[in-house]
Amino acid sequence: MKKFLASKGILVLLLGLLLLLAACGSSEESSNEESAADDTPEQTEEENEAEETETDTEEEGNEEAGEKLVIGFSQVGAESEWRTANTKSIQDAITDAGHELKFSDAQQKQENQIKAIRSFITQKVDAIVFSPVVETGFETVLQEAKDANIPVFLADRSVDIEDDSLWTTFLGSDFVEEGRKAGNWLVEEMADEEGPVNIVELQGTVGSAPAIDRKEGFEEIIGSEDKFEIIKSQTGDFTRAKGKEVMEAFLKSDGENIDVLYSHNDDMAIGAIQAIEEYGLKPGEDIIIIGVDAVRGAFEAMADGKMNVTIECNPLFGPQLVDLIEQHFAGEELEKRIAVEESMYTMDQAEELLPTREY
Ligand code: AHR
Repeated sequence: MKKFLASKGILVLLLGLLLLLAACGSSEESSNEESAADDTPEQTEEENEAEETETDTEEEGNEEAGEKLVIGFSQVGAESEWRTANTKSIQDAITDAGHELKFSDAQQKQENQIKAIRSFITQKVDAIVFSPVVETGFETVLQEAKDANIPVFLADRSVDIEDDSLWTTFLGSDFVEEGRKAGNWLVEEMADEEGPVNIVELQGTVGSAPAIDRKEGFEEIIGSEDKFEIIKSQTGDFTRAKGKEVMEAFLKSDGENIDVLYSHNDDMAIGAIQAIEEYGLKPGEDIIIIGVDAVRGAFEAMADGKMNVTIECNPLFGPQLVDLIEQHFAGEELEKRIAVEESMYTMDQAEELLPTREY
């Protein structure tokens, strides 16, 4: 009986222990469940807050230190000495300022530029620098950039588009004024001539802003005197080779009748100078040579007495352009049109200035 009671007591004790363990287990489980339900949203909010703070700090830091931007640059091509200097100036300014550069050379073809801009949009660049080959036909792609919230900075050449909200600002030369300067120089130079003064004109790329505007400005000035006449006008596409080729054709048809060559850039003028020499005439004497750009090659030709004047078109505006891009990202309102300051150089200044020419 004693044995039976003892074993019954052990049984009760074991049962009691089991019940106690079960109760502990269930209370632990429920407290775990409670803490999971409570903690998860709290932790997520905290994490979210931390992430937001991190981004804010980053943004504040960027604003203070100057944001590193990814900049897509669609350049016209490599058609002239001027263009080479301009490309280098812009590329150097972008990378020297610590930004990332994506570069595309359009080889003077509009379709290449449209493709390049679309690719910059796909790559989600921060800004696009764009020097349009021609003035028209860019509405759609610029609208796409605007829709993607990517500001477009026109450099050197502008576009002929009514909706000027499609670009942020245009930094470049006043091409009409350059044409006027060329015209004014000629009018003064020929002040004592009775005339007629027969002019041949080498135009830049058809449909490009400098070709259109330099023609307009020049004609506006010479048009005021009847003695001036443009007897031939054709494009040389801003290159030396084409300038030479077209001048050969001018000489073939008009030869000794040509008094003046007005060339929309120095490279075409330099090509034409070769054609004139090969034809047996003296450039700078038998035919007055007027160029635009003021590149080193023109200074060399002037120092040799083969070219009379060059109107400056300054390509070295890379640093000014990058300043404008940074100002835009710092929230500053930019003027729609910003002009590059320029001058004009004649034959008698060439030797002295040649050693200091930067391009
Ligand atoms: O747009 C600027 C013009 O383009 C330069 O005068 C010419 O040389 C260049 O190719």
